[in-house]
Amino acid sequence: MVVTWTEAVVVSHTPATPDIAVIDLAPGEGAEFPAYTAGAHVDVLTASGLVRQYSLCGPPETGRYRLAVLNEPQSRGGSREMHALRVSDRLRISAPRNRFPLVTAQRHLLFAGGIGITPILAMLRQLEYEGGDFTLHYCARSRDRAAFVTELQGNPRVALHFDDEEPGQRLDVARDLGDPRPDTAVYVCGPGGFMDHVLGEAEALGWPPQSLHKERFAKQDPAGAPDTAGSDGGFTVRLASTGAEYAVPEGRGVLDVLLENGIDTPYSCQLGICGECVVKVLAGDPDHRDDVLTDGERAEGMFAICTSRATTPVLELDL
Ligand code: FES
Repeated sequence: MVVTWTEAVVVSHTPATPDIAVIDLAPGEGAEFPAYTAGAHVDVLTASGLVRQYSLCGPPETGRYRLAVLNEPQSRGGSREMHALRVSDRLRISAPRNRFPLVTAQRHLLFAGGIGITPILAMLRQLEYEGGDFTLHYCARSRDRAAFVTELQGNPRVALHFDDEEPGQRLDVARDLGDPRPDTAVYVCGPGGFMDHVLGEAEALGWPPQSLHKERFAKQDPAGAPDTAGSDGGFTVRLASTGAEYAVPEGRGVLDVLLENGIDTPYSCQLGICGECVVKVLAGDPDHRDDVLTDGERAEGMFAICTSRATTPVLELDL
């Protein structure tokens, strides 16, 4: 894995809700964290060796990084480890990366579902700082399970929507997103069901893909396993640099096979959500199963080797 790890120290660990912890990290002695832009995330290497991505939601000017972590009992344990951290504990993190940046637009519509508020909160702060025109729609099952509500309620640019409150305040995508406007960028972040709902409605309303910016928080598979099982049989992957070919059997991923054969290639989440493993396809037809590439990137031949497969017998990669 081509990731440079930096030591970070837990300086604050507070419950935001019964199942969300807000964790502030400071750099190790004598070090400084790199600056980041709204929408960025870091990889965190947990004590047991799991690598997880968490968005940075704190004000960048503090020199610290703030994460908000949902404890997911169905997960493989990363969130539980993060919740078990204590002040003064040390862990390793990557430099920030941003696949979900603010884009240039006259107007920004932000949609956050649950823990998807974390990158969106950084965007809100950035837009407030710049005097940008924006509205945030923040949806959660209930008020007491939504992080950062105290600082968001009362903000005239923020609409809160809770499943267990009166029906009139719930998110209505047709009303709250409205018809497509060329001056508007739309950002959506949250769990799979929320993303599918908002993006599906946006598409039905006629919003073009280039106006819709998205970041999924996790695959819908609760175990977090790559979505490679049940594929339509195996295929062969060929590396353009050497011509070497490797069989990718049904139920296994390209990344898996390459690592097993000693091929050193970058990766991180192994879930198709971070973009770290993306390479270019030079020949063959991909079967995209990631949640990170845009339609435009796919059209340019980009391919996430951790989850995606092939519909042709051979797939040649720019590796
Ligand atoms: S490793 Fe994260 S998308 Fe493939």
